[in-house]
Amino acid sequence: MSMKIMITAAEPTPVRWAAEAANVIAAVLKAHPAATIGFPTGETPLPVYAELRRRVTQGQIDVSRCRALMLDEYLDPPEESYTSWSWLSHEVFAPLGLSSDRVRRLPWHSKGVETACAAFERRLRLEDGCDLQILGLGANGHIGFNEPGSAADSRTRAVKLTAATAAANRAYWHGEYEPEWAVTQGIATILAARKILLLARGGAKASILRRALTGPRDPEVPASFLRGASAVHVLADEAAAAALPRSLDYNIEWL
Ligand code: GLP
Repeated sequence: MSMKIMITAAEPTPVRWAAEAANVIAAVLKAHPAATIGFPTGETPLPVYAELRRRVTQGQIDVSRCRALMLDEYLDPPEESYTSWSWLSHEVFAPLGLSSDRVRRLPWHSKGVETACAAFERRLRLEDGCDLQILGLGANGHIGFNEPGSAADSRTRAVKLTAATAAANRAYWHGEYEPEWAVTQGIATILAARKILLLARGGAKASILRRALTGPRDPEVPASFLRGASAVHVLADEAAAAALPRSLDYNIEWL
């Protein structure tokens, strides 16, 4: 297991922070041009996706052979426009030219969801797994939609969202839609990725990042299970890293 924590200095807009995340993605693609990369939704990665689009447009990163993997999805939204799929299509897949045959989509209907989740897992295994899973961090320590209480050996499945996560997701849709149920890659699915990039930005993530990296490995803080993954890069800005103890057992790089 290797854990590296990269901390960027405070800046008015997250330019350096996003560039460091894009560097991690670029390095994976350089080593494996046909890499499979998992993308989260949420506010946190938006500057990273903007930087990725810029580099791809300028020919600095080649994504022509890579595959994309979804991390989580809403279940039974009223319209397809309220899906992580449509969000990521807009932010990542379409602008990067990742046509739908190169995206491994999660189901968004509850009918047949168990079978569809099992098919997602099977295909991921057949296609040699995930090279880089990018993650955000939920305010309650969730990763994907693995809410507190999720088991370390959980796999891709339907989950009921907590009230707090449902409300946080409602804000993404300007109050027009509040999800109740979702589908998520499981903790074990996420941990099987050959590399994980955990993104954290802003003071609101400071205490949960500290619990995830220094507290007990506890289903109540699903992100704490990341310490069992084979290679984890944590990229935090100074505000998100503010509660971390100065001395940690991990390799810390101040950027
Ligand atoms: C959402 C998503 C996660 C995301 C997290 C953090 O509910 N399911 O994949 O990483 O919450 O969101 P944000 O980056 O907006 O803080």
